[in-house]
Amino acid sequence: MATPHIEVNDSSLIAKTVLMPGDPLRAKFIADTYLKDVQLINSVRNMLGYTGYYKGKKITVMGSGMGMPSIGIYSYELYQVYGVEQIIRVGSCGSYSPIINVYDVIIVTEAYSESSYAKTAYNMDENTLPGDFDLIKDLNNSAKMLGYPVFNEIIHSSDVFYRADSHEFKQIRDQFGCAAVEMESFALFANAIYLNKKAACILTVSDSLVTNQATTAQERQVSFNKMMEIALEAAK
Ligand code: HPA
Repeated sequence: MATPHIEVNDSSLIAKTVLMPGDPLRAKFIADTYLKDVQLINSVRNMLGYTGYYKGKKITVMGSGMGMPSIGIYSYELYQVYGVEQIIRVGSCGSYSPIINVYDVIIVTEAYSESSYAKTAYNMDENTLPGDFDLIKDLNNSAKMLGYPVFNEIIHSSDVFYRADSHEFKQIRDQFGCAAVEMESFALFANAIYLNKKAACILTVSDSLVTNQATTAQERQVSFNKMMEIALEAAK
């Protein structure tokens, strides 16, 4: 029962909990760094997926690709065909806020989007969708346990990375209360809500639209590792 995009025939090869970075090479890094007894489960389109164990917990980590159509496809197939119960997106974002800096970590409470994804797929009219309450609580508890500070914020799931007007984000920030921007959570949350599953998203800030502050690769890795520890400890 492989899907058009995932070459797995046996559902038991995929854990009930999936961590999804955007970049499939990040999935490989996470598996190599944090998981034991790792098995490669997918390489269709190089969207690498691995299943292994973190402190005895069975976890799958798989890339989502960039943007809502891409994460929409992979998360739908994982939930619907492979019986996955919870997906935690582990991604990066751009800050819209003067008090949220590069390398900070954000747990997403809700995703606002101008995307037609939820309307087109499921006739959902909302332009803002929530992450799963219990998963958000678990992520916050694990951050507290590890001693890593986090923000809890509404974010903007954007359909575009490049805009004609680079100041337009201020209007979206002020109207919808968005603290940062990424491109996937809204579709992931829509799929989870429609399919009665759980989804959450934790992000590290990789750039700031306010200060145009850039990040170094090494520092990005440090903050990425903090976010990963929070997600892995929260995973059930
Ligand atoms: N825009 C959209 N998505 C992003 C950004 C951004 O600036 N940074 C990281 N993901």
